[in-house]
Amino acid sequence: MADLSAAYNIADLCEIAKRRLPKGLFEFVDRGTEDEVSLRNNRAVFERIMLKPRTLAGVSGRSQEITLFGNSHKMPLVIAPTGIAGLLWHEGEIALARAAAEAGIPFTLATGSMTAMEKVAEQAGGELWFQLYMWPDKSLSHQLVERARASGFKALVVTVDGVVSGNREYNLRNGFTIPFSFTRKNVTDVMMHPGWLLNVLAKYVFTTGMPRYENYPSEIKYKVTARPMGRSQMRNDSLNWDDLKALRKMWPHKLIVKGILHPQDAIMAADCGADGVVVSNHGGRNLDGAVSPIEVLPEVVDAVGKRATVLVDSGFRRGTDVVKALALGAHAVQIGRPTLYGIAAGGRPGAQRAISIFRDEIDRVMALLGCRSISELNTDHLHFANAAAFSAGHGKPGLKLLDSTKAVAER
Ligand SMILES: Cc1cc2nc3c(=O)[nH]c(=O)nc-3n(C[C@H](O)[C@H](O)[C@H](O)COP(=O)(O)O)c2cc1C
Repeated sequence: MADLSAAYNIADLCEIAKRRLPKGLFEFVDRGTEDEVSLRNNRAVFERIMLKPRTLAGVSGRSQEITLFGNSHKMPLVIAPTGIAGLLWHEGEIALARAAAEAGIPFTLATGSMTAMEKVAEQAGGELWFQLYMWPDKSLSHQLVERARASGFKALVVTVDGVVSGNREYNLRNGFTIPFSFTRKNVTDVMMHPGWLLNVLAKYVFTTGMPRYENYPSEIKYKVTARPMGRSQMRNDSLNWDDLKALRKMWPHKLIVKGILHPQDAIMAADCGADGVVVSNHGGRNLDGAVSPIEVLPEVVDAVGKRATVLVDSGFRRGTDVVKALALGAHAVQIGRPTLYGIAAGGRPGAQRAISIFRDEIDRVMALLGCRSISELNTDHLHFANAAAFSAGHGKPGLKLLDSTKAVAER
C-alpha cells in the first residue's frame, strides 16, 4: 500500500496513481481529448480569478455544511460519475461510495460501472445518485431507470454531453481496450504493473470473471467489447428534450441534467422539469475547445439559479477552486479524477485521503477569506484579473472571463 500520508495534495495522489496503473489505464483517466485545450483551460481559468479576503471576521466554528435538494451534506462536494473506479481497484465503486458516505457527501454511480447498482446500493450506504447514458433503444435505458428507482437511488443524473464519443487518440495509441485485446505493447504495460495485475485484474478473473459493464441489461451486457475504451457505449445522437421530458415523467425523485454549458440549455432543462443542472465539459474529455464551466457558471446561475440547483465540475483540484465556484453561485462542486487518483492509489483510504485534502483546503481558505459558512461566500470575495471583463450577473457582479466572450458580448 502506498504511503498516503505523503500525499499532501491531489497532484501527489495523481503521481501515486500514475505509478500504480498501466499507462493505458492511467491515460484513460487522466487525459482529455484531441489537443487537450479544454483540459488545460479547465485548470488555467482558476488562475484568472483571485481571492479578496476579509479580515478580523471571527472565523472560529467554521462549517462546510450545505443543503442540496433538501438534504444536508457535510461538505460542498459530490462524487461525479466516472464508471472506471472498478478498474482502478477491485470493486472500486463500492470503496468510493463508502468513502463518500463517511464524508457525508453524495456519490454518483455511472451507467458504465463495473459493479451492479443493486450491489452498490446494498453495500455502500450514504446518499446515492445514478447517472444515465441514454441508448438508442430507449426502452433499455428506461429499464435502468426503473432498476435505479427500485434500488433506492435518490437522484437521476442524465448526461447530455456525450451523444457521440470524444476523440481520444491516446486510447488507440495505447491499444487499451476492455476486455484486454492482447497486444505486445499493452501486455508489457500490464506486466510492468504487477500490483494492479494481481490486486485488481486477477481478483476479478478468479472471482466473477473478466470485468464487465454490470449495469447493462442482459440484452447488451458484454465483457466490455474490445473497442477502444470510451468508444463502445452505443451513444445516442438523436437524444432531444422530449427524451428528457419522458424521463421526468417516469422518475419520481430529483432529476439532474449533466453537461450543460449554455444558459439557454439550462433554462430548457429547468422547463422540462429538471431539479438541477451540472455545468460541465466532462472534464475536458469530449469536445475539445469547449469553454470551461467556470467561465459560463455566472450566466447559468443567472438563468436558472433561483429555480434549479446548479452544480459544476471539471478541473477542480484545490480547495481554492471549490471556494471560487461557490462564490460564483454554484450550490456544490463535483469531483471526478481527484477521487479516482485516490482509489487507484489506495482504494477506500485513498479516496478518503482525496476528500480530506479538499476538506482541509476548503476549511483553510474559508478561514483566510473571513468566512464561517458556505452561504457567506459571494463575488465580493473575488477579484478578476481582467476587471474590464466584468458584466452584470445574478444580482451581484458576475463575470465574463474570456476576452473572446467579452468581444461577443460587446458586438
Ligand atoms: C475516467 C473518467 C470516466 C468518466 N465517465 C463518465 C461517465 O460514465 N458518465 C458521465 O456522466 N461522466 C463521466 N466522466 C466525467 C465526470 O463525471 C466529470 O464530469 C469529470 O470527471 C469532471 O472533471 P474532473 O475529472 O476534472 O473532476 C468521466 C470522467 C473520467 C475522468
